[in-house]
Amino acid sequence: MKNLMVYFSWSNNTKKLVEKVNQKFKFDVVRIEKTIPYSSDYDKCAYVEAKEEVEKKIHPSIKDINVDVNEYDNILLFFPIWWYTFPMPIGTFLEQIKGFQGKVYLFANSYTNDPQYMINSFKDCKQIDAKMKFEKGLFNKGIEEHLKFIGGLK
Ligand SMILES: Cc1cc2nc3c(=O)[nH]c(=O)nc-3n(C[C@H](O)[C@H](O)[C@H](O)COP(=O)(O)O)c2cc1C
Repeated sequence: MKNLMVYFSWSNNTKKLVEKVNQKFKFDVVRIEKTIPYSSDYDKCAYVEAKEEVEKKIHPSIKDINVDVNEYDNILLFFPIWWYTFPMPIGTFLEQIKGFQGKVYLFANSYTNDPQYMINSFKDCKQIDAKMKFEKGLFNKGIEEHLKFIGGLK
């Protein structure tokens, strides 16, 4: 079973989580980055750039990921919640891999522990590709839970 970890991170919480989890598994890892980066200023990033993208469902251009996802059985997709769903560069990535036959596990983290965020994220993923197999990963869980969950993937 071949797994690819894919993540987006702005303030590096997700990046740190992915790196710690992957110290054990050593999967291939891809970071999704916007071609024109978000502002490093929180207010500008959150209340101007990201807000507009989420509200208008704009999938911004992202840097080339240089990986053929079809070589993998599972994609472990890690992201922070942005405005109640996934950040729009995740949407761009999903558009790019439309038709992927494997499973895509969603792992999210956010400031508030609101289960609605995962419901929204799944719904928005399905809107991009209704046939892709999106699976429940974890929401706002620590390292140990991730190690256990991912270690048990078949
Ligand atoms: C643009 C933006 C929007 C956010 N929207 C939400 C939100 O709707 N709900 C929430 O609980 N946290 C929200 N957050 C907080 C992040 O989900 C949280 O800080 C996350 O751990 C950041 O991950 P990162 O460091 O990998 O970017 C938002 C943060 C940013 C920058």
